Amino acid sequence: MPAMSLRTAALFGALSAMLTLTCKPKPAPRDADGDAGDAGSAAITSPLLPVDAGAPVVDGPARVAKGKELYGRYCYLCHGANGEGYAADEAPKLASDDLLAVASDAFLVDAILSGRPGTTMSAWSLAQRGPLGGDDATALVAFFRATWQKRPREDVDARKVEGDKARGAPLYTTHCASCHGATGSGGKYAWLTNPALQAAASDGFLITTIERGRAGTPMPGFAEKIGARGAADIVALLRSWPKPQDEKLVFPPRPGALENVVVHPKGPQPKFDPKADYIKVDVVKAELDRGATMIFADARPPSDYARMHIGGAVSVPFYEADAYAKQIPKDRWILTYCGCPHAQSGKLRDALRKLGYKRVAVLDEGLNVWRDRGYSVRGGPRP
Ligand code: HEC
Ligand code: HEC
Repeated sequence: MPAMSLRTAALFGALSAMLTLTCKPKPAPRDADGDAGDAGSAAITSPLLPVDAGAPVVDGPARVAKGKELYGRYCYLCHGANGEGYAADEAPKLASDDLLAVASDAFLVDAILSGRPGTTMSAWSLAQRGPLGGDDATALVAFFRATWQKRPREDVDARKVEGDKARGAPLYTTHCASCHGATGSGGKYAWLTNPALQAAASDGFLITTIERGRAGTPMPGFAEKIGARGAADIVALLRSWPKPQDEKLVFPPRPGALENVVVHPKGPQPKFDPKADYIKVDVVKAELDRGATMIFADARPPSDYARMHIGGAVSVPFYEADAYAKQIPKDRWILTYCGCPHAQSGKLRDALRKLGYKRVAVLDEGLNVWRDRGYSVRGGPRP
C-alpha cells in the first residue's frame, strides 16, 4: 500500500472533523461467549510486552525513512499526516516536544507495540497479531525523533515523586475528571488507569506531563495551579488505581483460514442503497433482523477484534485486505466497521472496492454505537 499523500490526509482529516459522534469507547462489557469466527484460532497469552529499555533508538536515515513509510501506512489516519493528532478519535499529538522530549524510547515503543487496550490505540505488535516487529516500532520512534522533536531528550524517569493519594483525590476531581473521567477512564481523553500506560509511564513522566501539560493540545499545564506537591499527590492517586493484568485473548483466524464469513448465508439480499458509502447501524440491524445475508468486516488490527467485535464478523485489518479477500465472496453486501467510526473502516471499504467488490459500505456510526444500542458483540479475554 503506498504511503498516503498529504492531500488525501487533509481530506481524511476534514471528513473526520465533520463527524459529530464521539468515538471514545466506553470500557467494553466483557462478553465471554465464543462465536463461529473464533473456531480454530489459537489462544495466545498477551501480557504487556517487555521492552528492551536499554537499546537506544538510532536514527539513521534508512531507519527514519522506514518509520515514515510505516507511519503513512498505519498511523496517520488517527494521529494526522504531520503528527498533529486529533485526525480521528482524539488521538494524541505525536509531533510534540512535551511528549517526545520527555518520553523514553521504551515508553514510545511500548505504546506502539502494546497499544492502549480498551481505546482505539491498537496493539500493533506481531506478538498480538499486528503488523509491526520491534524493529518497526523503533523505526517509527526514530522517525518521530528525527522529524518532530526539537528539544533534546530530558531524563525525567529518574525523578523521585512522593505524594499522598488522599490529598490527590480532590485535586483530581477538580482539575482532571472533566477530561479524563471521574476515576481515570471513560473520559474524552487518555485513559489514565490504562494498565499499558501505567506499566510504561514512570512517575517522573507522569508528574512532568501534569506540571507542563502538552502545548498545542487540550492538556493544560498545572504547575502554577497545584504546585509540584499537588502534582505528586495526583501521581500517587493514579498509581493507586488498577495494576496491569495478563489477558488471554483468542485471536481471529489468519488469511486463508476464515470460517463462516457470511451472516445468514441463505437469507435474502438486504435492501441497502447500492450507492451508499455509509449505512446507519439501525438500518443494518433491521435488515439483519429480517434475516438478510451480509458480511461484517472488522477493519481494526486483530487484537482489537479479539477484545470485542460484532457477532459473526470476520477480521479483515484495513492494511491487509488483499490477503483476506480470496475468502470473501463478492456476491454479498459487506459492512466494514471500526471503533472510531470512519477512519479504518473507510480505508477497508476503499481497499475492497479496489479489489472489485461492488457492494461494500461503512457501518456508519461504528462498533461502539452498535454496542451501546445493545446489539450483539463478542470477544474479550478468556479466563
Ligand atoms: C481540558 C482537558 C484536560 C484536562 C482538564 C486535563 N487533561 Fe490530561 N490530557 C488531555 C489531553 C487531550 C491529553 C493528550 C494530549 C496529547 O498528547 O495530544 C492529556 C494527556 C495527559 C497525560 C498523558 C497520558 C499519556 O497517554 O501519555 C496525563 C498523565 C494527563 N493528561 C494527566 C492529567 C491530570 C492529572 C490532569 C489534572 C491535573 C489532567 N490531565 C487534566 C486533556 C486534559
Ligand atoms: C484508530 C486510531 C489510531 C491509530 C490508527 C493509531 N493510534 Fe496511536 N493512539 C490513538 C489513541 C486514541 C491514543 C490515546 C489512547 C488513550 O490513552 O486513551 C493513541 C496513543 C498513542 C501513543 C501514546 C501517546 C501518549 O501521549 O502517550 C503513541 C506513541 C501512538 N499512539 C503511536 C501510534 C503509532 C506509531 C501508530 C501506527 C502504528 C498509531 N499510534 C496508530 C489512536 C490511534
